[in-house]
This record gives sequence, structure tokens and C-alpha cells, in this order.
Amino acid sequence: MPSIVILISGSGSNLQAIIDAVAEKKIAAKISAVISNRPDALGLQRAQSAGINTIIIDHTEFTERQQFDQALAEQVARLNPDLIVLAGFMRILPEAFIEQYQDRILNIHPSLLPEFKGMHTHRRALEAGNRKHGASVHFVSNELDSGPVVIQATVPVLDNDDEKMLAERVLIQEHIIYPLAIQWFTSGRLRLIDNQVYFDNKPVKEIATWKNDTLSLPQ
Ligand code: GRF
Repeated sequence: MPSIVILISGSGSNLQAIIDAVAEKKIAAKISAVISNRPDALGLQRAQSAGINTIIIDHTEFTERQQFDQALAEQVARLNPDLIVLAGFMRILPEAFIEQYQDRILNIHPSLLPEFKGMHTHRRALEAGNRKHGASVHFVSNELDSGPVVIQATVPVLDNDDEKMLAERVLIQEHIIYPLAIQWFTSGRLRLIDNQVYFDNKPVKEIATWKNDTLSLPQ
């Protein structure tokens, strides 16, 4: 069975959605470890409750950034996963790591990429007066939040929305599209070859979308 390593830094609600999807056999894979750079991440408790091996690599315990990077690389190399899932992991991965695991690192970003790369995406979507917002699952490349997108979920921005309300609406959709993309990958339907996304062995021209509870597959 394919193995997944999940990297987190915080609440881990996406992690929980993935744990649930594995438990419900919607994802045919084993989560071999959850790694957190923060010892107090709530996601660690979620993993432990599900009986998943947890590893803490506290970035504040290293004087040099490189040392943290190396400790992380060593743990991941030891686990040798088929897929690395970033689920609210708030550290930038070094280039060498991304190159080593290229084609098998997924991330979820709370915006309709390429809009609003980086932080505070919900606030920025509100400030821009956007009427639509959402989340994107993408393969990780060396440029932040820029790798090839696999699936996007779209939500409306409502008149009285504040940042928190909008974030919650998006997060509900994240919990649907992230397990789905992971299921596609671990079942071999989704691949990245030479920076091109393939779905069912065909190069994807239009990414998958999830909107109004309706899935449109990659085309
Ligand atoms: C999510 O909004 C995700 O899109 C972003 O970080 C947040 C993680 O939330 N990358 P959680 O830890 O999964 O609850």
C-alpha cells in the first residue's frame, strides 16, 4: 500500500480530513508519520488519537536553518514515502528537498491560485473586493505556492463576510478536495511528469474543480 508522510505546523483540520478518509477507506494508503515543526500543534494530538506515529522537529531548537532542513530530510528519507502531504506546514522546504521528492509533494493553499500566493489570503480576497474565493491543491515546486494546480474549490464571498467567516467557508471545501487529490495520487490516477499534471494517463489541460457540491474531473 502507498505510504504518506504528512507535514503540519498547526491545527491539523486538513490532517483530520485525511485521517478520516483513510479510516473510511476512501484513500487506499497508509499514513506512516505526521511530522510537526511545532511541539504544540493540535494536529499532533489528532494523529496520536488515530494511532499514527508522530515526529516533532522543533525548528526553534536549531541555531541554523540548514540543521532543521537536514533533520527533516533525514526523517523523510528514513520513511521513504510515496507521497509527502503539506497540511498547514509553515516552513519553506529547501530546494534540494523539493528536487529530491519532486512529483510527489502536494500542498493546499487557501486561495484560487495564482491569486493570493503567500499569507493572509482571506483578508486580501476581501480587500480586493473579490466575489469568489477558494482553495487550491497543487504539486510543490521551488517557487512558493506556484507548482501545477490539481484541483480548486470555489466559494462565494458574501456581503457581510469577515476574514474568519470566509476562512471557515473555504476550510470546509479544503477538507473535501484535499483527500480527493490524495486519493487520486495514491491510486495512481494523478501524476506529475516533467511539470505536467496527468490524470488517468492523459495530460491535463483543465484542472479539476469543486463548486456548488459538484465535481468536475480534470480534462
Ligand atoms: C489551511 O487553510 C491550508 O489551506 C493552509 O493552512 C491551513 C491549515 O489548516 N495551507 P489546518 O491546520 O489543516 O487546520
